[in-house]
Amino acid sequence: MRVLVTGGAGFIGSNFVRRALTGWLPGLDPDELVVLDKFTYAGNPANLDPVAADPRLRVVRGDICDPAVVKQEMAGTDLVVHFAAESHVDRSIAGAAEFVMTNVVGTQTLLQGALEAGVDRFVHVSTDEVYGSIDEGSWPEEHPLAPNSPYAASKASSDLIARAFHTTHGLDVRITRCSNNYGPHQFPEKVIPLFVTNLVDGEQVPLYGDGLNVRDWLHVDDHCAGIALVATRGRAGEVYNIGGGTELTNRELTTRLLGITGRDWSAVRPVADRLAHDRRYSVDITKISTELGYAPRVGIEEGLRDTVRWYLDNRAWWEPLKRG
Ligand SMILES: NC(=O)c1ccc[n+]([C@@H]2O[C@H](COP(=O)([O-])OP(=O)(O)OC[C@H]3O[C@@H](n4cnc5c(N)ncnc54)[C@H](O)[C@@H]3O)[C@@H](O)[C@H]2O)c1
Repeated sequence: MRVLVTGGAGFIGSNFVRRALTGWLPGLDPDELVVLDKFTYAGNPANLDPVAADPRLRVVRGDICDPAVVKQEMAGTDLVVHFAAESHVDRSIAGAAEFVMTNVVGTQTLLQGALEAGVDRFVHVSTDEVYGSIDEGSWPEEHPLAPNSPYAASKASSDLIARAFHTTHGLDVRITRCSNNYGPHQFPEKVIPLFVTNLVDGEQVPLYGDGLNVRDWLHVDDHCAGIALVATRGRAGEVYNIGGGTELTNRELTTRLLGITGRDWSAVRPVADRLAHDRRYSVDITKISTELGYAPRVGIEEGLRDTVRWYLDNRAWWEPLKRG
């Protein structure tokens, strides 16, 4: 099986590649794995170092918006797992053009390329942010999409285009909508690695608004296991939510990180809230659990401790990124 992984040098994509090539994802044993990545600020060759010598891995530096590169790399591909995206909400507030280009036009270019190449299966990695914000309860997959940030709107657009390629052309597209990921190799602009790296360096951390926004934290290993289940056992044209089952306010998350790093609340600096900051995300994971046997395995306590340990042990990875 030949697998094409877009965005495979980023946080989640590289985890998927490392796990796929070390036999850790049941049902996925690629003969060839091609990473297609533009290597933006978020793409890091070092993320693939542990598997760089694997003869099955080929890394292509290219843009998913480029139809020629996409055509070349789609040829002979059995499965596409599409992670490539502009992924940081704050950057989408500062300027949305790159988000629309990569997330919307790039996804359409990939889908068209997959259709023309006769690719068997296309897994589109979406996000719970496409649903908007929910005060109580959890979203099932059929809930209407109501994204609030330019990032979420660009992901909702790509999510719908992916769905349309299935409905219109019969392309085997499967969509996953996951909650907030954390774990090693996450770029230190996102809240957990930003807070951890600031705290271990004796710096303050910026907490948005009243700190009561709720996120469901999902360890990146559990996310990749869920994607593998959808890729191997999911159904064409279906959407699957993937969650971690751990809802925390940002204040609760901060308390945990302060505890693990031995800091206190004097290290926390309240800052003005993010524009259109969604109050709460919560996905209902009944479908993937009952249909595909998914269950998150990494508890939040263990997952956060391991993540902090990884950042302590890998300063050479993140210090240059923070210096910019
Ligand atoms: N991180 C999360 O918590 C989270 C939650 C839900 C969904 N997602 C989704 O998962 C996917 C991966 O997220 P991530 O956190 O690993 O992102 P990331 O920002 O760490 O990595 C994105 C990768 O895509 C590459 N890329 C960007 N533009 C490209 C282009 N035009 N052509 C080719 N490659 C390009 C980057 O170089 C990078 O390697 C994204 O689609 C994101 O929307 C992420």
